[in-house]
Amino acid sequence: MTEPMLRMTGIRKTFPGVVAVDGVDLTVGPGEVMGILGENGAGKSTLMNVLYGLYVMDEGSIEVQGKKVHIRNSADAIALGLGMVHQAFTLVPNLTVMENIILGSEPSHVGFVDRAESRRQVQELIGQVGLEMDLDTLAEDLPTGFKQRVEILKALHRGAKVLILDEPTAVLTPLEAEDLFRSMKRLTEGGSTVIFITHKLKEVMAVTNRITIMRRGKVVTTVETKEATFDILANAMVGRQVERKFIFAPYQPGETLLQIENLSASTKHKTRGLNGCSLTVRAGEIVGVAGVEGNGQTELVECIMGLMRPTSGSIRLSGKLTNELSTSEILKLSVAHVPEDRALSGLILDFSIAENVVLGVTNSSEFSRRGFMVPKRVRDFARRIVKAFNVSTSGIDVKARNLSGGNQQKVIVGRELAGQPHLLIAHQPTRGLDVASTEYIQSLLVEARNSGRGVLLVSADFDEILDLSDRIMVLYEGKIIGELKRGAGIGELGKLLGGIAAS
Ligand SMILES: Nc1ncnc2c1ncn2[C@@H]1O[C@H](COP(=O)(O)OP(=O)(O)O)[C@@H](O)[C@H]1O
Ligand SMILES: [Mg+2]
Repeated sequence: MTEPMLRMTGIRKTFPGVVAVDGVDLTVGPGEVMGILGENGAGKSTLMNVLYGLYVMDEGSIEVQGKKVHIRNSADAIALGLGMVHQAFTLVPNLTVMENIILGSEPSHVGFVDRAESRRQVQELIGQVGLEMDLDTLAEDLPTGFKQRVEILKALHRGAKVLILDEPTAVLTPLEAEDLFRSMKRLTEGGSTVIFITHKLKEVMAVTNRITIMRRGKVVTTVETKEATFDILANAMVGRQVERKFIFAPYQPGETLLQIENLSASTKHKTRGLNGCSLTVRAGEIVGVAGVEGNGQTELVECIMGLMRPTSGSIRLSGKLTNELSTSEILKLSVAHVPEDRALSGLILDFSIAENVVLGVTNSSEFSRRGFMVPKRVRDFARRIVKAFNVSTSGIDVKARNLSGGNQQKVIVGRELAGQPHLLIAHQPTRGLDVASTEYIQSLLVEARNSGRGVLLVSADFDEILDLSDRIMVLYEGKIIGELKRGAGIGELGKLLGGIAAS
């Protein structure tokens, strides 16, 4: 390697009671895509926050292009050519894309912002990295993937030579992720350096030159990507042999639990809505709904759960027409729901685990007597869930907000499955989770299916759909345009996802 772009040596950062980063050495070469792979809590974000000046390290030193530097805050980091895109975005909602990009780095022309010149520069930047954008849209109207593009463009516009992307794909669809990967490649071809943080093995293998694997605050190893295999990475990351196969009981679907016929619904969220969608889910099967996000998935789930009214067509749960029923009436038909956005509708973040496990069931006779909650029953139930579903927490009074994403999701799935529902509607159940939690949640879905429940799995993670589903329904522009059986490959699915109907 020529002179490294960046060298971090002996970095240590502690928080009260936690050594988040423990003596880490990291070298990043110019023009490379360096992967940092690790499970939740491995210390990846902390290490990068130290580099970007957001945390002061306890020990260690940092060199940029061979020169020792002292990064006291992010202004120092930016001045050194570092740029960072976090998982949570920092755009100003009521400013346009253009205004957000140039915020804080406006080129001036005799003291005034030269709008035409700024625009020209930003257009040129967009052309270079291939992140197409309409510059006049308000940030608040952008879908998530585009918000991220703005953040990247903003960092580049400020002159970032090293771009740090912290779990960027957690908020992207597979297609958006592919666009991002292409742009990362173009950036490095143009001489920039990218540090790409992820916990996803496939991604890190697909886009990096080298990979540093972290576990519990330490670097386990650094490998050349071309020499890496799934097993080497997974074992280094998790620290044990990773079991990738689920055990499926023989496929013997039973009674029809969910029957949807010709369902249409007008659109919310600026997507296309539903447009004559039909599908069924029977007991003992996982039916996967695959599709690029925005093809009607949200509307489908919301119609089933009574959160939205279809404009035509029918929904039957165990034979009963439910189009006009309320959510609470639908839940009584032995349906459980793992919602798309766990922080918005799955949990109340400021409530404790104990309070969250009884959300939606507060008037059930299991927890109340003559209309009053019986705290001991609730607490026992919460403890059972924490134990049975491996929730890692110091107790049931911990607020949901203070659990990791994986553990939040275990609380939700645990709560939903505890009622022994006939039908489980799981919407993006593993989105944004680390490998271990993903594996665990998926195994719960398989177990539910093996024990005779029906599962409707709506997911934009195609590997998840292919691994778990007995039948795969491909949703495109609001209707099902093809069905695949277990064993189908990504190639077959890919064609359907692009809207080429199965003949
Ligand atoms: N601001 C903070 N205060 C206290 N503990 C923190 C803070 N940030 C991170 N940690 C802890 O440091 C460890 C590493 O976290 P983090 O760097 O976020 O890991 P990763 O990004 O790999 O998921 C975890 O145990 C986490 O709980
Ligand atoms: Mg992180």
